[in-house]
Amino acid sequence: MKQPSFPPFRVLFSNDTILRRAQELARQIHVATAPEPPMLVAVIEGARPFARLLQKFLPGSLPMHEVRAQSYAGQHSSGKVTITIGADLPVHGRHVLLLEDIVDTGRTIAALREHFLGKGAQTCRVASLLSKPSRRVVPVGIEFLGFEIPDEFVLGFGMDLDGRYRELPDIVVYESEVERAFLSKVASAST
Ligand code: IMP
Repeated sequence: MKQPSFPPFRVLFSNDTILRRAQELARQIHVATAPEPPMLVAVIEGARPFARLLQKFLPGSLPMHEVRAQSYAGQHSSGKVTITIGADLPVHGRHVLLLEDIVDTGRTIAALREHFLGKGAQTCRVASLLSKPSRRVVPVGIEFLGFEIPDEFVLGFGMDLDGRYRELPDIVVYESEVERAFLSKVASAST
C-alpha cells in the first residue's frame, strides 16, 4: 500500500473551505476599500498562498508587495519583531492592506502597522486567514478575518514548522505524537 507523504494530522479547514472563505473576504475587501484599491502587502513566507488567492479574487490585477517580519523560532514567539524585507516599501499616502496567515500574539501585525503608519501610510488595515484570540498579547484589530481558531499550532496552506508542511493544501493541527508515529512507520518500511 502506498504511504501518505505527510503524517495524518487532523484537518481543521479543507482547501475547499479556505477557497470559499477567501472569496467571501475578497468581496468584503472590495466593498470596504472601493473606489481606491488597497496596496496589497503579504507577510511572507506564510501568507503567500492566502495573499495569492485574495489577489486572484479581487478585481483589477492588483500588484502584490511583500514584507518579512521575524519573531518565531519553532513553535515559540521570541517577542521581538524584526522587519527583514519590505521595510522601505513606498507606502506614503497609500491605503495599505496587510495580508497575514495567522495572528497569534499580535506582535507581528502591531509592529508592521506601526511601522507603515510611521512611514506615512494613510491607513493600514489587516486581512488574516486565521486568528488565535486566546493567545493575544498585543491587542490588534483585524478588519477582514477568515476564521478564529483555538490555541493550537496549525500547519499547511503556507504555514510551517521550521520549514516543514508549508505545502499541505489543507490547514491541519500539528501533533508531535502523530508526526513521530508516522516517521517511525516510514523508517521501518524502508528497512
Ligand atoms: P504573532 O506575532 O505572535 O501574532 O505571530 C504571527 C506569526 O507567527 C505568523 O505570521 C506565523 O508565521 C507564526 N505563527 C503563529 N502561530 C502559528 C501557528 O499555529 N502555525 C504556524 N505559524 C504560526
